[in-house]
Amino acid sequence: MENNNENEEKPLLFTLRRFHLSEDYGFLLPNPLSELPAPYGPWMEIANNLPHLIQSHQLRSQVYKMPQLSSQHLKGHRELHLAHLALSFITMGFVWQEGEEGTVKLLPRNLAVPYCEISQMLGLPPILVHADFVLANWKKKNLNGNLDTIFSLPGGESLRGFILVTLLVEKAAAPGVKVPYNSYSALLDYVDPAIFYAVIRIFLSGWKDNPAMPGGLIYEGVSDEPMSYSGGSAAQSTVLHAFDELLTIRHSKESSNGPEGAAFLHRMRDYMPPHHRAFIEEIQSAPSLKQHILSSGNEKLRIAYNQCVSVLADLRTYHIAIVTKFIITAAANAKAKKGKESHWVGSLQINPPSSLQERGTGGSGILSFLKSVRDTTRAGIIEC
Ligand code: HEM
Repeated sequence: MENNNENEEKPLLFTLRRFHLSEDYGFLLPNPLSELPAPYGPWMEIANNLPHLIQSHQLRSQVYKMPQLSSQHLKGHRELHLAHLALSFITMGFVWQEGEEGTVKLLPRNLAVPYCEISQMLGLPPILVHADFVLANWKKKNLNGNLDTIFSLPGGESLRGFILVTLLVEKAAAPGVKVPYNSYSALLDYVDPAIFYAVIRIFLSGWKDNPAMPGGLIYEGVSDEPMSYSGGSAAQSTVLHAFDELLTIRHSKESSNGPEGAAFLHRMRDYMPPHHRAFIEEIQSAPSLKQHILSSGNEKLRIAYNQCVSVLADLRTYHIAIVTKFIITAAANAKAKKGKESHWVGSLQINPPSSLQERGTGGSGILSFLKSVRDTTRAGIIEC
């Protein structure tokens, strides 16, 4: 006879494991490694020392001296993720070390070739993605379970706070969307808007739709043609894409709120690990929950569905307020200070990138995009 218990334990549609999802950690990589095998010492030495190497303008010269390493000694997806994370951080530091006016056109082959090989094995693009920056960039600091990041970039405690708070949102989103409110508000405690705006963002920026790098970047030894990739953004987080699909909130190209933002959001799925992307596609292809509620005529279901949609729209409204504080207001403050002699916050020199004034690190035009996504969400409400 069949073991019924076993069947009951399996979720109705699919098992979490199939999509590299964990009940405890959601989309986070459970217990990421923080050490690579010995042959990769030269990468780790640089990746572990990035803030200093960038601020002392030594990173590029260190990268040019790196030996040409093959990716063949990397075993298993945890080593591959750590290697992608290390090379992504090194690449962002390498490209943006001298700010937006001192960018490079070419990523040297000793970095570009293994980076593209590893990216291909993981099904990720060769640029820093949310899956690196947040999902794979954490470790337990002590036995109390306090968290720390594995690698860092300039931005000190604000960068650490930004990464870890986003990580907490990811973790909190495993059972639902209500908890992210508390995590979002933690951003206000841990991240200094001036440092976020002027120091951190440039290192998350890409080389697509970015006036500071209009020609993209040549990955030497991989292709002679420059390649263009969007920078890291939580728009690449699978969480909200999954909620949208579950609630049949479609930011489609046909959406009345305009195609530009919707297309950007869809493009961000190409920056997710393939298993997480497959999870969204599975929900998308499953029978529509909304359709079921509409045809059932069940009032309780309709109310419960509408509550979920409202919470999601409110969460997006809250996120807009955060973006206003950390980018729009911070931009105005930075503009007001421009022209004055060097401006420092703590030990960090503030020199905001002008090409990012109205754009997100993913390259989107910010507020109109975020508002249209929020409005499409709200339009999902089922009227009685
Ligand atoms: C300092 C805090 C934050 C700022 C300044 C910020 C900024 C932005 C910007 C500018 C965008 C537009 C896309 C782009 O070009 O990158 C965006 C999108 C997005 N962000 Fe944030 N963000 C912050 C924190 C977070 C956190 C903690 C999360 C939670 C995971 C999050 C989730 C999202 C999502 C899901 C999108 C896609 C739009 C949507 O689905 O509504 N953000 N963010």
